Amino acid sequence: MTPTPDSGGPGSVELRSGDDIERAVTILRRGGIVGVPTETVYGLGASLESSTGLARVFATKGRPVDHPLIAHVSDVAAARRLSSDWPEVADLLARTFWPGPLTLVVPAADDVPTTVTGGRSTVAVRVPSHPLFRGLLAALGAPVAAPSANRFGEVSPTSAEHVLRDLGDDVDYVLDGGPSEIGLESTIVDCTCSPPQILRPGAVTNEMLEEVLTTAGPSGPARAPGMLDRHYAPRCRLVLVEANDLRSANLPTLDARNDPESFAHRLYDELRRLDDQGVEVAQVILPANTGIGRAIRDRLGKAAAGR
Ligand code: TXA
Ligand code: MG
Repeated sequence: MTPTPDSGGPGSVELRSGDDIERAVTILRRGGIVGVPTETVYGLGASLESSTGLARVFATKGRPVDHPLIAHVSDVAAARRLSSDWPEVADLLARTFWPGPLTLVVPAADDVPTTVTGGRSTVAVRVPSHPLFRGLLAALGAPVAAPSANRFGEVSPTSAEHVLRDLGDDVDYVLDGGPSEIGLESTIVDCTCSPPQILRPGAVTNEMLEEVLTTAGPSGPARAPGMLDRHYAPRCRLVLVEANDLRSANLPTLDARNDPESFAHRLYDELRRLDDQGVEVAQVILPANTGIGRAIRDRLGKAAAGR
């Protein structure tokens, strides 16, 4: 990322992004907000201990205040401290998939800020695997609440550059950990119901979850607030086509059929590129509805909705 010079001349160039964990810690402790790299997408982080920082996350995103945030923690012990009653399934899933792209909804401890829970009795927790973010969590010694670092409803960022382009001066610093490996938001499992319910598909796939337990799919009562129909949306109109359907030879085309993992990794960057190029309509050939293909179809369905 190219540093943005401030007005103070060459001696006081202000670096808006980099790998300076200490700087990120200082900012978070003072109530600032920092773009954080994760293996899924970049987050817009505030310390769970800073009400100022948490308020700024909502203001910066333009996010409704009743949409809860994910609390990112360094290990299972830290996750348990945020929970009043840590479910056995959460333990099983945490041991199997953490650190990694899985968020668990569990009963919230009394001292979790209502800004983080959205006023609910539950809290969403995740141990991310990105080494730079893990370094930040260890150095801060507090959980980091972070939604994806995009303005509300828009495409999630998968690089530090995306975050700076989307949020500009509204973010204090971006920890640059390179492109997000997975490229789609974490799988969310509600562990407070029986069977546990998948609220959002992701890179921890239904198949992987079914290997360790029985779950209910997102077709059950959708209880993740903020899972609006239209979401993850570029300006460009997306026409979604099944692999066997007729498609237009004339439209710019994204093809997810052959290698869904690498398609997921690139997807949000491609959607941003379509907008950068001023493309008005593009078609996307969908992957099969299995594995990470389920998450790709979920996000594309929302990105294409309401047009
Ligand atoms: O991969 C990810 O999950 C990324 C990175 C930064 O960790 N974060 C992310 O955050 O996607 P966000 O805020 O864009 O999406 C979090 C989702 C929202 O749909 C929210 O409603 C849901 O998690 N959520 C948070 N707390 C919840 C709770 N207590 N119960 C149900 N859903 C919850
Ligand atoms: Mg989001």
